Amino acid sequence: MEGLGLKNVSSHCSISEMDDYDLSRLLDKPRLNIERQRSFDERSLSELSIGLARGGIDNYESTYSPGGRSVLDTPVSSTRNSFEPHPMVAEAWEALRRSLVHFRDQPVGTIAAYDHASEEVLNYDQVFVRDFVPSALAFLMNGEPDIVKNFLLKTLQLQGWEKRIDRFKLGEGAMPASFKVLHDPVRKTDTIVADFGESAIGRVAPVDSGFWWIILLRAYTKSTGDLSLAETPECQKGMKLILTLCLSEGFDTFPTLLCADGCSMIDRRMGIYGYPIEIQALFFMALRCALSLLKHDAEGKECIERIVKRLHALSYHMRSYFWLDFQQLNDIYRYKTEEYSHTAVNKFNVIPDSIPEWVFDFMPTRGGYFIGNVSPARMDFRWFALGNCVAILASLSTPEQSMAIMDLIEARWEELVGEMPLKITYPAIESHEWRIVTGCDPKNTRWSYHNGGSWPVLLWLLTAACIKTGRPQIARRAIDLAETRLLKDSWPEYYDGKLGRYIGKQARKHQTWSISGYLVAKMMLEDPSHLGMISLEEDKQMKPVIRRSSSWTC
Ligand code: GLC
Repeated sequence: MEGLGLKNVSSHCSISEMDDYDLSRLLDKPRLNIERQRSFDERSLSELSIGLARGGIDNYESTYSPGGRSVLDTPVSSTRNSFEPHPMVAEAWEALRRSLVHFRDQPVGTIAAYDHASEEVLNYDQVFVRDFVPSALAFLMNGEPDIVKNFLLKTLQLQGWEKRIDRFKLGEGAMPASFKVLHDPVRKTDTIVADFGESAIGRVAPVDSGFWWIILLRAYTKSTGDLSLAETPECQKGMKLILTLCLSEGFDTFPTLLCADGCSMIDRRMGIYGYPIEIQALFFMALRCALSLLKHDAEGKECIERIVKRLHALSYHMRSYFWLDFQQLNDIYRYKTEEYSHTAVNKFNVIPDSIPEWVFDFMPTRGGYFIGNVSPARMDFRWFALGNCVAILASLSTPEQSMAIMDLIEARWEELVGEMPLKITYPAIESHEWRIVTGCDPKNTRWSYHNGGSWPVLLWLLTAACIKTGRPQIARRAIDLAETRLLKDSWPEYYDGKLGRYIGKQARKHQTWSISGYLVAKMMLEDPSHLGMISLEEDKQMKPVIRRSSSWTC
């Protein structure tokens, strides 16, 4: 559409099978093994039989999928028989369809919130890239991929715009946080305005947008078996531009991506500047998705090599330094400081006195998680739901770490789930710390909004992580909770309070991703083979970090 010349580019030179790619082999021999190159179609089919034969963490298909349905089939569920559709599902679909945004008569996305009662619209009448992800997944799972394709192409076009904030030109690869379609009823024309951060409150950079775009392109490809979109020169270029922004060399001493505050779903000042887990997990996942989508032509190969090297370094860094469990916490508690040279144990010179009191009580004997941020003399011990769930989905966490994250969620159910899934972050920051960290943000007071608020949209990520780790009963429990209130409360954007009991102070109603997040969670639980479009299997060759701790095995 829109003159991008989407011809059916030859697809026998297929996107290579990289979901279970062998990183070390690629590094050693940059020339690719031809026999490892299989098309998505072949992969989908063969994965099915692999799924049926294999046990363990990736074995969700054989365990829960009733029919062993190919992902190439129209994903409209034919397996509903064992599950009575909840009355909320039909309501949710209706609400989701009401949120559709059209550009020249084609659906291109969903509006963030359809809340007419709200006196202030702000930018909730726009299509946000991150907000559209669960909508897109719902449509893919329901066999309606066109809107997803339209969205991917439309945002790709927006990427091509010249982006400026005052006199500063943004990187070519930047993807917008959101866009809005303006309908002119007189001239009968549609135009688009996009926001790359230049209009956003606080002028925050949507670092997550490009990553979600790549992740969604893979989900589309995986779900439809349509290779032609990802293989177009436009999509290949779009991916490379995004990656160029984050793979370029600089002064960094870490493989993690340095970001300003407000760079993700948490798009206000919340002390997530530095190396936030939310971005690192999405970065890792996008790199792996890109690896499976990039063509192995001259340009693509160079990019692939850089990705592979970064993935190696990134997974090592994250698994070693962001991981926290009982043993690790105890080690940090006993850290010596001021150690110089490469023999240092306390590499980042974290001062044990900076460990917050709450974390000692919060940490269960069994379980663990990736902490919020790690940089010189700074560990942000807060729990972030999105980062940890995406880490599981991308297999950034080892299978043991994934299990430990689920153990933690179970052990700290009241804190992390309470009465409404799911806390965006835990715990809230208060008083003096709130003043310093948020800049006295009245929207982010304790246990509200981004500061310990409960976001129903996170239900889909939790459900996906549960299915991947073979613990669907946890998702079931969370969905049951959501079903007691979400519709009755008109799909709020977030809930407030320690238990997530109150509709958020400034929460929008009819928030689209609360609706689609619920639908995606339901559909995945009903037919776990959907998980494949948003989950990546572990790379068996990526050496697990040798760890002192083994709390998850005790
Ligand atoms: C708020 C959220 C952000 C979301 C937007 C639209 O700004 O913090 O994550 O994308 O609303 O729903």
